[in-house]
Amino acid sequence: MIKPHGSDELNPLFVYNAEQRHALLAEAETLPSMMLSSAAAANAVMLGGGYFNPLTGYMNLADALSVAEKMHTVDGLFFPVPVVNMTSETSIEAGSRIALRDPNVEGNPVLAIMDVAAVESVTDEQITFMCEKIFRTLDENHPGVATFSDQGRTLVSGSIQVLNFSYFQADFPDTFRTAVEIRNEIKEHGWEKVVAFQTRNPMHRAHEELCRMAMEQLNADGILIHMLLGKLKPGDIPADVRDASIRKMVEVYFPPNTVMVTGYGFDMLYAGPREAVLHAVFRQNCGCTHLIVGRDHAGVGDYYGGFDAQTIFDEEVPEGALELEVFKADHTAYSKKLDKVVMMRDVPDHSMDDFVLLSGTAVREMLGKGIAPPPEFSRPEVARILSDYYQALDA
Ligand code: ADX
Repeated sequence: MIKPHGSDELNPLFVYNAEQRHALLAEAETLPSMMLSSAAAANAVMLGGGYFNPLTGYMNLADALSVAEKMHTVDGLFFPVPVVNMTSETSIEAGSRIALRDPNVEGNPVLAIMDVAAVESVTDEQITFMCEKIFRTLDENHPGVATFSDQGRTLVSGSIQVLNFSYFQADFPDTFRTAVEIRNEIKEHGWEKVVAFQTRNPMHRAHEELCRMAMEQLNADGILIHMLLGKLKPGDIPADVRDASIRKMVEVYFPPNTVMVTGYGFDMLYAGPREAVLHAVFRQNCGCTHLIVGRDHAGVGDYYGGFDAQTIFDEEVPEGALELEVFKADHTAYSKKLDKVVMMRDVPDHSMDDFVLLSGTAVREMLGKGIAPPPEFSRPEVARILSDYYQALDA
């Protein structure tokens, strides 16, 4: 099986031994507390599940700056985005042991315990530097830039022990999985070649066919549909609705035992190319051999070129940094001429008028009015679930 990123075995930071976990939870009540930002809590969940292997906790400032600049820590570990814990609290001391509290669960329970290695001030210039490198823009209207730069200016770094998976297990019991669980399930299936499909949307025909094309062209044993379950920007479709529509599509249109429908607990960064590389790192940790990267992967607005998230793998990811390979998909749409979904590069004789292409906004408007998107764009079963959601919004 493909090795995790940066180590031979996966080292999740969740404390699996129940006795030890209970002892740590009791200890946490005696420790000074720190309230995490949502972004730092999402990082803890990812570290807990083994997704960010081989990191052992939050990066210090030197590593965060180095990773932002050149996708390597000071010690030379390849990593695409800084994994940080930034706060406006100033009372935390280096060398202390603290309880990290969850901002996203009522009562703010302890999410993790941290051995604080360093507490460092971050200047506005350093935030600007990191944003520019990670997001390729400084525009505050970019949701990722806004979230990153709105965090406090104190960076608290050090190793952590994770004690739960925030709200994800309770809210998505059938879908939330750790990288450890996915690796184990892939092993149980006996799959060798596994393609991951990242998504933050309900899956329409183009998404569905991308999965099918990748499976066929790579001769893969299975596909991991791996949806983001954390926070999105306003207007994006909530995870439970996406989950229901994706499950329906898989149930009706894919052969049994070829697809795993799963999700991970992370907030969307909207970092386009850099996020695509992060996606590749954590799918390798899950045991996948390939990741589909299509048009405007993890993008938002017009901040990234349609295929920047593919070229970064050729231009900026050093040879051998990752074992997982990227399946680069071209713009995919329904061809009226051929009566099927195609990748545009495969049909050079087509003009734009030969395709059914709908923008997300157009689809949202249709659904809001109770109009189902055409079957060339969306499966009727998927359209029904989405229209129920939009109708309920308007009611
Ligand atoms: S993402 O932010 O999670 O990337 P989305 O769920 O829309 O957004 O896309 C999931 C994957 O499908 C990404 O790799 C994206 O590039 C790809 N994709 C979505 N729609 C198309 C399309 N029409 N043509 C090619 N690739 C697409």
